[in-house]
Amino acid sequence: MIRLLAEDETIPYHLLLLADESLEAINKYIHHSDIYLFLQEDIPLGVLVLQIIKPKSLEIKNLAVEPAYQNRGIGKELLGFAIRMASEQGYEQIFIGTGDASVKQLYIYQKAGFEIDYIKKGFFLDNYPNPIYENGIRLKHMVMLKLVLNK
Ligand code: ACO
Repeated sequence: MIRLLAEDETIPYHLLLLADESLEAINKYIHHSDIYLFLQEDIPLGVLVLQIIKPKSLEIKNLAVEPAYQNRGIGKELLGFAIRMASEQGYEQIFIGTGDASVKQLYIYQKAGFEIDYIKKGFFLDNYPNPIYENGIRLKHMVMLKLVLNK
């Protein structure tokens, strides 16, 4: 099941850090966002973080699945949940950002209907003190994808 994290519950940093390795970066958005958990028998296996960035726009700030449970459809289920909820609540667009070398993420997001909207040039070079590698490639730029809803 997927449910909203209550305000008095512990923030699942161990999951959030899988998608964003800077605690400082996470703390910039996490207190102004809704956090959803994917639970199996009460154990949190996935997280989804949604932030309102403009009156009719949401951004998925964080999406992560416990490594041992990846590639079983949980990420796609959380993404589908975000899209359905945003659509039902009348949002017009959802943004999601990922690394330029994040092949799997780019695949999942585009398969769900997101399209590349713009690039934050040098984002990973400017905002993270240590180099981040994915698929053997150093992340440099953040690719921002957008899904237009309620067309
Ligand atoms: N290249 C391309 N596609 C791949 C690859 C790969 N290397 N590996 C797996 N896939 C495909 C699978 O075939 C499957 O697609 P299909 O169903 O069409 O066959 C799909 O990717 C996997 O889908 P899920 O099982 O739903 O994905 P998962 O549960 O693993 O969740 C997620 C995806 C969230 C990216 C997870 O792997 C994760 O937590 N990764 C680490 C953290 C992360 O990078 N999070 C996203 C950062 S961006 C952000 O947070 C806004």
